[in-house]
Amino acid sequence: MKRPIKPSPIHAVGALIALLILGMTLPTPLVAEEADPVAKLQALLEQNHVTVLDPKQEYSKERLELGQALFFDPLIGGNRDVSCATCHHPLTATADGRSRAVGTRAYVDKGRRMPEGLRLVDVEGRDPVLMGFNLSSAAHPFTPRNSPEIFNRGDSDWHSMFWDSRCYQREDGKFVVNQARLTKTENYYQVVMPDIVENVLAAQAMMPVLSNAEMRGTKGERDSAGVHNEVGEVLGQNEEEIWAALVQRLMNVEAYRKMFKAAYPELAQDEIHFAHAANAIAAFEIDSFSFYDSPFDRFLAGETDALSEPQLRGALLFYGKANCASCHSGKLLTDQKHYNMGVVPIGPGPNEQEDYDLGIMLRSDYGLEDRFKFRTPPLRNVELTFPYMHNGAYTTLEGAVRHQLSPGSELDNYDAGQLEPEFRGAVHNSSEVVKLVKKTMDPAHKIPAYYSDEEVSDLVEFLKSLTSPSARNLESTIPESVPSGLPMVLPFPASD
Ligand code: HEC
Ligand code: HEC
Repeated sequence: MKRPIKPSPIHAVGALIALLILGMTLPTPLVAEEADPVAKLQALLEQNHVTVLDPKQEYSKERLELGQALFFDPLIGGNRDVSCATCHHPLTATADGRSRAVGTRAYVDKGRRMPEGLRLVDVEGRDPVLMGFNLSSAAHPFTPRNSPEIFNRGDSDWHSMFWDSRCYQREDGKFVVNQARLTKTENYYQVVMPDIVENVLAAQAMMPVLSNAEMRGTKGERDSAGVHNEVGEVLGQNEEEIWAALVQRLMNVEAYRKMFKAAYPELAQDEIHFAHAANAIAAFEIDSFSFYDSPFDRFLAGETDALSEPQLRGALLFYGKANCASCHSGKLLTDQKHYNMGVVPIGPGPNEQEDYDLGIMLRSDYGLEDRFKFRTPPLRNVELTFPYMHNGAYTTLEGAVRHQLSPGSELDNYDAGQLEPEFRGAVHNSSEVVKLVKKTMDPAHKIPAYYSDEEVSDLVEFLKSLTSPSARNLESTIPESVPSGLPMVLPFPASD
């Protein structure tokens, strides 16, 4: 029998010396130049510490069923007319396809949900305009920001949620969310989550039900069946009371009593907290919306032929000359840090005292120099999750990429015509506002950058390699009905 020749330590040292000499004599740039694009990209990904995503966590079937029911059930909306899925619907790639979302008490205009109190009026020869126009003049206005997609949020690298990262884990291990104070004395206060909350995604799920405009509604309102909104009656800043009122509602439904018992057999009914609901919702989100089969993820897993030629060229730009990966970094394609990318402000932000959305400067200790900064978004399935940016300012992926390549000049030349009619008149692109936005931008982003159409198109192709084929059709994640028996509310309902 032939035995494989074992390299002796002497051989190894010899080989090492030979390699070193070779390395010193061969001009290294030549090696890099000649390396094939696959090897080049692999080297760049390694340098940038881009690894495969964590495998999906396992949850019990009972927990997932409860999470799915709660995600789609308008019962946890004060007026029973909006659920998580209304703004994060599987048929619109876990977002809602709108620049800004509409929460409770919407009316339907041509298949689109519109805030109560705001009416689109046709004006001869012009775009229809919004009566009152100010996005915040309705009782429950548009949400201040664009609904983000919620793909792959179970990965352990996630440590913040929201466009301004106001939901995060504090050094003491507590999950907290910075909230605007009702009184104007201080900028914000912290909602500290009960220890039951398992992760940052579950901490986020505690919040939409508190928001008057998104899900809770307000005092004195009734749902479409005329039932009084008891959740809207609770005074603001009494989070525990609001959560308790919602648990009470759920416990009044027999199917939910059974589902909570099945998902949390160790708990007595009076030990159930809304945080248990939030943990179940997070489990459902992770289980249903985590994917690993995009060409890029397959490439990361070692399938060297997963990317097309344009996608490879785009990836080399993304991790090379165009420097996108300096912010869209790591396996999540976000550093979860905040930048002013010069996106045109549209309408007011979360603080109605301000004309514009100031980003992380609100509800945080950040100062004036941090105006207009938003968290770098992750990019998986970005092809499907239009419109883009914190306020949905760009409706096409190419538009978003062109903006990112040359933020200053794109801000100067912003075209409001791409927006849905109701947002066009709310764009703040006067020269004064543009100047104000530019004031806190990175100087490098203000200089126009020139990229060829081919380079732009390659970058777009690379971004399309982040699309998971499974994410294109998420119909199987939608239940046939919800335990409350209420109708489910789509982002694009049939017209009245
Ligand atoms: C009326 C629309 C609306 C409803 C209803 C709604 N959301 Fe959202 N969601 C948004 C908007 C808008 C944001 C971004 C807000 C911000 O960043 O300030 C958001 C942010 C999020 C995020 C953060 C993602 C990230 O990475 O930053 C998650 C997760 C999420 N929502 C899940 C949920 C869940 C779970 C529910 C139900 C309990 C829900 N949403 C209800 C509109 C909505
Ligand atoms: C300095 C950090 C930084 C760099 C460099 C950067 N981005 Fe971004 N990117 C962001 C931030 C922050 C946003 C959100 C801005 C906002 O909404 O105001 C964003 C938004 C986006 C979006 C919209 C995604 C969505 O879901 O709304 C895309 C697409 C994008 N970037 C692609 C790119 C590409 C391609 C490059 C390279 C040409 C790039 N970015 C360079 C930080 C950066």
